[in-house]
Amino acid sequence: AQPVIVAIDGPSGTGKSSTSKAVAAQLGLSYLDTGAQYRAMTWWMVTNGIDVDDPSAVAAAADKPEIVSGTDPNHPTITVDGVDVSGPIRTPEVTSKVSAVSAVPEVRARITELQRSLAATAERGIVVEGRDIGTTVLPDADVKIFLTASPEARAARRSGELKGADVHTTREALLKRDAADSSRKTSPLAKADDAIEVDTTDLTLPQVIECVVTLVEEKR
Ligand code: C5P
Repeated sequence: AQPVIVAIDGPSGTGKSSTSKAVAAQLGLSYLDTGAQYRAMTWWMVTNGIDVDDPSAVAAAADKPEIVSGTDPNHPTITVDGVDVSGPIRTPEVTSKVSAVSAVPEVRARITELQRSLAATAERGIVVEGRDIGTTVLPDADVKIFLTASPEARAARRSGELKGADVHTTREALLKRDAADSSRKTSPLAKADDAIEVDTTDLTLPQVIECVVTLVEEKR
């Protein structure tokens, strides 16, 4: 069978990661979390004292860190210069700075290249989750999904993940990050014209997974 390429985009808190990992595991495909790559780049900038609000400083450093993603959906990994950063990339500091770093064109060019080469070498195919996969990174993907959910549902899910973080604060931070990601100049968060939109507000995770698995199987 030909490798199948699945692009799953959408804002945060829509269940993208949980859905993408489960779909890849169920169908025996590779898995790539592109948000983790932007977070890894941001972690490196912060760790090396680069001012993330200075786009030219970020651009000048964009080709320095070596970011490597492991694509097994049952055990995804991410390293920067050989260091496992899967924990440190989830801190509130990195989360609050990632939109500024990911808006820099040199950062996007570098990471997009990594994403395309991982997709091209996945033997059975790959599920790639992010913000601009269906529009920019893999416009020829076989299946494009755009996940949405109400701001309330997204904030509730995120504060659940953050073990009881205040829902109101989480909601404000999440909406701020989505607004920044949607309004940047270079490949903003957007639904591709040919993507299938799935509103997950009133669906359980197993229902979303089943829906996406069915869409992929129809295309294979
Ligand atoms: O998915 P996650 O919340 O981990 O993504 C972190 C950030 O990485 C997003 O808020 C966005 O700024 C950036 N990102 C991006 N393009 C992608 C994936 C993530 O700009 N394809």
